[in-house]
Amino acid sequence: MTDARMRALRDRVGGLAYGGDYNPEQWDRSVWREDVRLMREAGVNLVSLGVFAWASLEPEPGTYEFGWLDEVMDLLHENGIAVNLATPTAAPPAWLIHRHPEVLPVMADGERFGFGNRLHYDPSSPIYREHAANITRRLAERYSFHPALAMWHISNEYGPTAYNEAASAGFRRWLRRRYGDLETLNEAWTTRFWGQVYTGWDQVEVPSVPRTWMNPSRILDFKRFTSDALLECFVAERDIVRSFRDDIPIVTNFMRFYRNADYWRWAPEEDAAALDIYPDPAEPDSHVASAFQFDLFRSLKGGRPWLLMEQATSAVSQWRLNVVKEPGRMRLGSLQAVSRGADSVMFFQWRAGRGGHERFHSAMLPHSGPESRTFREVANLGREVGLLAPVAGTTTRAEVAVLFDWNGWWGLEELWGLPRNDFSYVETVMRHYRPLWEHHYAVDVVSTRSDLSPYKVLVVPNAYLVDDEGVAAVTEFARSGGTVVMSFFSGVVDECNRVRPDGYPGAFRRLIGAKIDEYWPARPGERFTVEFADGRTATADWWREDIHLETGTALATYADGLLKGRAAVVANRFGTGRVVYFATLLEQDAFDRVLIGELRAAGVGNRFDGLPTHLECTVREDEGHEYLFLLNHDAEAAVAVPLGSPGTDLLTGLPASGEVSVPPLGAAVVRRARPA
Ligand code: GLA
Repeated sequence: MTDARMRALRDRVGGLAYGGDYNPEQWDRSVWREDVRLMREAGVNLVSLGVFAWASLEPEPGTYEFGWLDEVMDLLHENGIAVNLATPTAAPPAWLIHRHPEVLPVMADGERFGFGNRLHYDPSSPIYREHAANITRRLAERYSFHPALAMWHISNEYGPTAYNEAASAGFRRWLRRRYGDLETLNEAWTTRFWGQVYTGWDQVEVPSVPRTWMNPSRILDFKRFTSDALLECFVAERDIVRSFRDDIPIVTNFMRFYRNADYWRWAPEEDAAALDIYPDPAEPDSHVASAFQFDLFRSLKGGRPWLLMEQATSAVSQWRLNVVKEPGRMRLGSLQAVSRGADSVMFFQWRAGRGGHERFHSAMLPHSGPESRTFREVANLGREVGLLAPVAGTTTRAEVAVLFDWNGWWGLEELWGLPRNDFSYVETVMRHYRPLWEHHYAVDVVSTRSDLSPYKVLVVPNAYLVDDEGVAAVTEFARSGGTVVMSFFSGVVDECNRVRPDGYPGAFRRLIGAKIDEYWPARPGERFTVEFADGRTATADWWREDIHLETGTALATYADGLLKGRAAVVANRFGTGRVVYFATLLEQDAFDRVLIGELRAAGVGNRFDGLPTHLECTVREDEGHEYLFLLNHDAEAAVAVPLGSPGTDLLTGLPASGEVSVPPLGAAVVRRARPA
């Protein structure tokens, strides 16, 4: 059904969706007609409407004002613009908060949020849930069959973590479902330690106001619970709108590298993964992290197209310094998303707001109006997005997968008491992903529950916490012929955050063919020399392991220090597969060399080998065609790309053969017959 719903959306917008958040409730009626006229000029075919409009829709409890929304929906429809209608539940109105202050989330330090921002709700609050369900139902009753409606956008950027009474009650219910009885909970949380044993369920609370250290299993479960509590809010609203009509997609917008919601659990509940992404234009290579996010979002629903729901046309307003996107960068970033599987290019927001916190946030229609650089770029991109219609619905194939797991992330970063407590999971993952991006490999992102059979290589970055099913999946992947490239401090604890028995790395000792006697985090400034079998040397720092080979062999050993002669990189045959394990933090070049060498040895295909790093090359395909995206991230020099078989550049409509020249910050999208 999901695929049919997404197909319906594609048909509705005629290919890729193009548009943004539209907030007409912040503007006088006189502006609406101009909005719609300019939207048409810009090629907008979809707008997200009403995202924070609860106070305008229900100005007093039980009093509804839908007249303005009726008018806007009609106007959009008359002009051929479809609506992605939002439930407004990310912004509970002042009257609700005034009547029921307990809806406001209490933070970990015990302080309660005040009114004045958004996302000011405790997801476990029954009052919040009741009122959110009510406004959702009212909207669905009224608009489910409005001809403008093309998609539902449930709430916005689910995220609050709350430590309220209601959260404690919800946490207890969640724990009862998970563990059944207190004895099992006590066991799972190792509560004999520091005498934290619970003898009644009413003693179990959310882990608030900790005096420094806190039971790490309890925190881990609280993270899981919070993600699930938010998900329950989404599902409740989704089910309401679906009960009226089930042939249009229902989504919510996720965030970039967002730690508080396990998107692997969320994605199956919605029709498409939808991403809000704001790469910082001040960071010269922020597009590499974007590429990872785009691959993740495509992978969240098993390779299906995803939706780029929000991005900025230029500067944002959330950081201390908000620099502009230079000419051409907005287009390039948008095409980059499409090249990695997005079926939409959407922005926050259509018209720049005059007041409020985001008054300097860029928009499709900036304060300077249609005679502006931004609007010209927006209108040009709208035209190009139209030309890319054939790409909609197509997919990508990859032979390399990178494991990205929220439980592992929480394990490494939420808890104190590790051998070192400054892990950055995102940085670690990016260290592993960057060389794959630089060498133009197509990459999928996987969870421990994904089907690993399409891949030749599985990259496992610092997977500290992996549950038994995950361990079995990784192990089986290698046993049946895959190559696993794993980095240190992996397979250490079980799903309850308890150290696995029989020596480190309990979960993967047989897999890596070595036992680790002790983890040796480096002292500040400490560096080591590592020597490879071919005599090359490299430096390493940050982490070492006192590793004892069992079935594994050393690919590299320490050339100095107390661990001199001991393995720093291990290779092991396992079943019909191979495992390479990094027991230290190698300098990036040396790490890249080993990783890319393993990909080549495993026979991973790479059609773009040798092309410059700053030329991003990806392929989307359908049954008959492939769409070759060539994106030049360099602002100075053009790149000439030998094409092989000929095709048509969708952006120019011109035949492409021989060699294509991709200008600085430019792009080509070549459509051609799919190779046999
Ligand atoms: C988020 C929100 C939007 C807006 C933008 C600003 O993605 O969903 O409402 O605040 O950030 O960049």
